[in-house]
Amino acid sequence: MAMLLKTDIDRGDAWHRALRACLPELPIHEWPYDGDPAEIEFALVWAPPRGALSRYTNLRAIFSMGAGIDHLASDPDLPKGVPVVRMVEPGLTAGMIEYVLLAVLTHHRFMLDYAAQQRAKVWREISQIAANRRRVGIMGLGVLGGAAAEKLIGLDFDVAGWSRSAKAQAGVTCFHGQDGLIPFLARTDILVCLLPMTAETDGILNARAFAALPRRAALVSVGRGGAVVEADLLAALESGQIGGASLDVFRQEPLPPDSPFWTHPRVILTPHVASMTIPDSAAVAVAANIRRLRAGQPLEHVVDLRRGY
Ligand SMILES: NC(=O)c1ccc[n+]([C@@H]2O[C@H](COP(=O)([O-])OP(=O)(O)OC[C@H]3O[C@@H](n4cnc5c(N)ncnc54)[C@H](OP(=O)(O)O)[C@@H]3O)[C@@H](O)[C@H]2O)c1
Repeated sequence: MAMLLKTDIDRGDAWHRALRACLPELPIHEWPYDGDPAEIEFALVWAPPRGALSRYTNLRAIFSMGAGIDHLASDPDLPKGVPVVRMVEPGLTAGMIEYVLLAVLTHHRFMLDYAAQQRAKVWREISQIAANRRRVGIMGLGVLGGAAAEKLIGLDFDVAGWSRSAKAQAGVTCFHGQDGLIPFLARTDILVCLLPMTAETDGILNARAFAALPRRAALVSVGRGGAVVEADLLAALESGQIGGASLDVFRQEPLPPDSPFWTHPRVILTPHVASMTIPDSAAVAVAANIRRLRAGQPLEHVVDLRRGY
């Protein structure tokens, strides 16, 4: 039996090396594989074409190369009854913590304003406020949101989180569900969106949500671009309701050249790189899960495809 590997970007060699070190007994076949489909027991993939996994009738698990599984859930021909496992691995979490801290500190310390002042050769101090007076709100208090919250608390920010079900995390003011959304937004100066892409989160950051934030709040969008109604965000940036945004994910990727976000003075834009799965640490996590399955134990981090994450 073997593993089918379809990498996200050109990192096939790194993945091969990492997987061979952790699973020396398991042959790895890189995509596209035209050998015997019955050999394939596991698939570790990013964005396979629709229906492409249905030919592997002996699949026991599909491992998503990323934390998000929308690239798999959107396939109507995904093999039925095969567990889909999302990526939870320390390298991916560490990268997201870095990006969220960088972005939150950028807005907290007025770096967009200072960049504009630098371009205009203006030497002017903006009055700083203490981190414990800055209210950061994290939408999606899961593996990544929870880890980012912990580090923000370490920097003394006033942190809240919003999730689907009720949660408790030390030092975090927790809100949940539709009823909790507006109160959560109303106390958020810097909003970090780490929601997965689902039918429920599609367009959740719209004009109504932006209006619920305090004036000149900042947005850090790192979950999925579909959460943001881009026309509403642009209007909120134009009106000053949103004071600045760090945008890593977009509804259409790559972002089209005519998108106004490319040149907006209140936007910092990155090409969906907030965090990447790191082959060395991810292979350890995948191998541990495969061993669990072989030992007759339940797989970890299996997603609920009906729920969408
Ligand atoms: N930009 C990048 O480079 C990058 C990298 C990695 C991941 N991501 C994105 O980050 C997302 C989060 O990853 P994760 O590992 O933290 O996922 P996770 O552990 O599954 O956490 C998801 C969180 O979102 C909450 N949630 C989901 N649907 C909701 C809804 N309708 N209303 C309110 N809360 C909702 C969940 O609530 P419950 O706790 O109640 O379940 C949970 O707290 C991924 O899905 C992916 O899209 C982006």
